[in-house]
Formats: sequence, C-alpha cells, structure tokens
Amino acid sequence: MLNVGVLVSGSGTNLQAILDKIGEGTLPIHISTVVSNNQRAYALERARQNAIEAVCIRKKDYADADEYEQALISHFKDRNVELIVMAGFMVILGKSFIRAFYNQILNIHPSLIPSFCGDGMYGLRVHEAVLEKGVKVTGATVHYVDEGTDTGPIVMQKAVDVLDADTPSTLQRRVMEEAEWVIYPEAIRQIAEGNLMIENNKVRRRHP
Ligand code: GRF
Repeated sequence: MLNVGVLVSGSGTNLQAILDKIGEGTLPIHISTVVSNNQRAYALERARQNAIEAVCIRKKDYADADEYEQALISHFKDRNVELIVMAGFMVILGKSFIRAFYNQILNIHPSLIPSFCGDGMYGLRVHEAVLEKGVKVTGATVHYVDEGTDTGPIVMQKAVDVLDADTPSTLQRRVMEEAEWVIYPEAIRQIAEGNLMIENNKVRRRHP
C-alpha cells in the first residue's frame, strides 16, 4: 500500500475527506504520519482520532529554513513515506525539501490553476479575487509541487459555479464541498493505483 505522509496547518477538512475514503475502503493508502507546523491545528486531533501519528515540527525551533526542511525530510524519510500530501500547509517549502521528494509532493489549491494562484494567493484571498474579477466559474486543482508557487504538473481539476450572491466565505465553503473534498482523495487514489505518470511536466493516465 502507498505509504503517505501529510502536512497540515489548520482545520484539516481535506485530511478528513481523505480519512473518510480510507474508512470506506475506497482509498488504498496507509497514512503513517501527519505533521503540522502548528501545535493547535485541529488536523492533528483528526489524525490522533484515527490512531495516526500526529507530530508538530515548528519552524521557530530550528536555526533557519534549511535546518527546518532537513528536519522534515528526515522525519518523512525515516518513515519511508512515498507520497507527501500537503493539505492546507501554510509554510512555503524550499528547494531541498522539494528535491528530496521530487514528483512525490501533492498540493491542493482552491482555484482553477493557472487562474487565481501564485505568490500571496491563499485562503480567502483567492475567493475574494475570483469575486472581484467576476468570473462565473472557479474550482480546485490538485497538482504536484515543484520549485514555483502553484506551478507543478496538474493532476486533477473540478469546476464550481460562482453565484451572484456569493461572499468569499460562501464560495470558499462550496469550493471545498464540491471540489476539494472530492478531487483530493480521487487524485491520491489514482496515484496509489499507479494510473498516472508525468511526461514533459504533464500528468497523463496510463490507461485512458
Ligand atoms: C484549503 O482551502 C486548501 O485548498 C488550501 O488550504 C485549505 C485547507 O483547508 N490549500 P483544510 O485545513 O483542509 O480544512
């Protein structure tokens, strides 16, 4: 079974969606560790409730960003993690971490990349920018993490209608319910089943 490590900072609703699918028996992965930079992240509690190791590794406990990344690398390597799932992890990881797990790190972004992404585009800001622009469709994107911000190969996307009455909060919630919680477990399932490969920086299905 694919051995997965998860990085979280907040409430962990995406982690919960993944745990629910594992519980239903439709996502054949083993989560060996959940790591947060924030001791109070509710995501850690969700891990503990599922008898999964829940660990806090904080940037401020290390001399610099590089030492912090080395600690994260050792943590995941010690557990032989094959895929790292970033589920609302609010620390930007640098070259050493990304190179240590090249094409083995996934992230979810709450818009249809390449729209409304890049530096500074996270959380409610994404949905504020969507409403400000007046686009009629937004959504979510699961992508591999490379050295840029939201620039890695796209694994899966799902569109969500923008409604006239939307506020950033209502839109954020609907994007999570209709897109994020659906495509994150599904993308991980396809990777776990060996259905996907990366070719010329694009994700392709092996068996279309
Ligand atoms: C989600 O909106 C995700 O798209 C973004 O961070 C948020 C995490 O939420 N990367 P949660 O902690 O999974 O509830």
